[in-house]
Amino acid sequence: MAALLNVHDVKKHYPVRKGFALFGSRGVSLKAVDGVSLSVEENRVLGVVGESGSGKSTLARMMTALLKPDYGSVEFEGKNVFGLSGKELKAFRRAVQIIFQDPFASLNPRATVFETIAEPLKIHGLVPRGQIRDKVAALLSEVGLGPDSLGRYPHEFSGGQRQRVCIARALAVSPRLIVADEPLSALDVSIQAQIINILAGLKARTGMAYVFISHDLRVVEYLSDEVAVMYLGRVVEHSGAEELFAAPLHPYTAGLLASAPGLDPSSKPERQVPKGDVPSPIDIPSGCPFHPRCPRRFEPCDRVFPKLVQPAGQQGRVVACHLWNQYR
Ligand SMILES: Nc1ncnc2c1ncn2[C@@H]1O[C@H](COP(=O)(O)OP(=O)(O)OP(=O)(O)O)[C@@H](O)[C@H]1O
Ligand code: SF4
Ligand SMILES: [Mg+2]
Repeated sequence: MAALLNVHDVKKHYPVRKGFALFGSRGVSLKAVDGVSLSVEENRVLGVVGESGSGKSTLARMMTALLKPDYGSVEFEGKNVFGLSGKELKAFRRAVQIIFQDPFASLNPRATVFETIAEPLKIHGLVPRGQIRDKVAALLSEVGLGPDSLGRYPHEFSGGQRQRVCIARALAVSPRLIVADEPLSALDVSIQAQIINILAGLKARTGMAYVFISHDLRVVEYLSDEVAVMYLGRVVEHSGAEELFAAPLHPYTAGLLASAPGLDPSSKPERQVPKGDVPSPIDIPSGCPFHPRCPRRFEPCDRVFPKLVQPAGQQGRVVACHLWNQYR
């Protein structure tokens, strides 16, 4: 199947100044995203997981053309999204929607729910004026909100209800792909499951694709067909969701899995792993970037960089770890 969205070897590095000017500062770069390739197919959900600072939001903003990569390409239906203009750009802006973590910050506090959801319908001229109210009410019903919400303002809603409004606004334009950047992390655990159910229902009904981003591996399990695990700006494992949850290949994935609380408030993570803090993306460790925290590191790990490769006998999976290549 042809990919809807194709991200090839994208990099985003930010210049930073290091050291005191008195002693001579040197320019170094913060590698927010450092060579990521992923694709999303129609009616599929790609989960993207990693700890804070691993580059997930930077990747999401490049995928949606809100941020231009320094290197690499982003293609939607085979076309470079940064080469689009006019009608084609407008069509891309309609086809790909982004939902953010904080539903309050992404809503205009002075606009009613009706105004918020009617706006994209008007911009894209999708519904005759006389039918906008009915269309907005139908979109609200898709996300489990009644018509009584129409005249209300964001502050009158709970976090979960606000996120529903954001989803309804994204849905208004019948997108082909929704990039959801930690859509659940600002919400109570009990509400998270409701939002997941709404997203899963929409996928089944509309055939939409998602990129679903979370720092919690267990949360993406409910929705994802495949999962990419990010560490310090790179993908360290990319597998079908079932295979990944049954038997993670990368020690970092295994650590995230053991430590993930998931959606069940009564579940206790087995242990607090991965141990230690994520190193700074300004000073990425030599060799395998995960080696200072890896419980399974061995001789070449601190000096040889592990490439992302398909291990023998692991069809459709790639991993960046020496346990799975020639050093094994
Ligand atoms: N505009 C910027 N200028 C400098 N550094 C940036 C900028 N945007 C992001 N970064 C840095 O890039 C790295 C990746 O950030 P990003 O927000 O993509 O991570 P994330 O995985 O989304 O984290 P979180 O889980 O906290 O949302 C971080 O170290 C961040 O501080
Ligand atoms: S390459 Fe070595 S340090 Fe890196 S994850 Fe694999 S075993 Fe651990
Ligand atoms: Mg983020």
